[in-house]
Amino acid sequence: MLEKMKQTAAFIAAETGDFRPEVGIILGTGLGDFAERIEVSASIDYKDIPNFPVSTVEGHRGRLIFGMLEGRRVVAMQGRFHYYEGYTMQQVTFPVRVLKLLGIRYLFVSNASGGVNTSFSVGDLMVITDHINLMPNPLIGPNLAELGPRFPDMHNCYDRELIARATRIAEERNIKLQYGVYVGGTGPTFETQAEYRYFKAIGGDAAGMSTVPEVIVARHMSIPVFGVSVITNCGLSDEIGDHEDVQRQGAKAGRKMAELFMEMIRTL
Ligand code: HPA
Repeated sequence: MLEKMKQTAAFIAAETGDFRPEVGIILGTGLGDFAERIEVSASIDYKDIPNFPVSTVEGHRGRLIFGMLEGRRVVAMQGRFHYYEGYTMQQVTFPVRVLKLLGIRYLFVSNASGGVNTSFSVGDLMVITDHINLMPNPLIGPNLAELGPRFPDMHNCYDRELIARATRIAEERNIKLQYGVYVGGTGPTFETQAEYRYFKAIGGDAAGMSTVPEVIVARHMSIPVFGVSVITNCGLSDEIGDHEDVQRQGAKAGRKMAELFMEMIRTL
């Protein structure tokens, strides 16, 4: 496993002229446009990267983009791997481990999720303050001691300093933020009404099918993480959202998220 990761990192380093990213960014569903803000120096399709799984979900582009963003060297994953696609948790999290070998010192993650907190609206941005993992843990199996400890601590999983910085930036720029706990389930079904109520009862604010595996392996490797969820539906609302309105809200939220991520990366 470690050998494969090293082999993949060496391939990528050779393909990118030894570009060493400082910040890794995972772009969630509908947030791929963010990649347009990067001054791209190289991009590699997942299908051309040895040992990488290949993305199967439509709307997920499936490539790594290397370049400059706000004066920093970044790598963006345009498209991620989900457990519900049939990959193992080791496959889902493989890219994040490779990014660490390439040198990332921060991980920014984004996703689309369903609001469980009844004070949330479609199009809100939720800063992830913590998570509840309802998927298999990606660290099950022999521990890769070269990467991190057997029993990683999950306090401060979403970096408090980065959250405080997001709050300051959002206040300066008049960006409305919600804060909350992301519940990661396997999918691919959306939740039943009883499940949304259950998520709320156990302390969740948003429900999704991604992010948690990547964050767990990042924290295993002691990488500070910042995460944002775009609320695309409200699980406990009776109203079925107008599809066009949901898309419009999603695009608007994506622009706000881009502004927030860029300012945070500029001031890292
Ligand atoms: N549940 C799980 N994942 C999601 C949802 C949801 O309601 N909305 C977007 N991704």
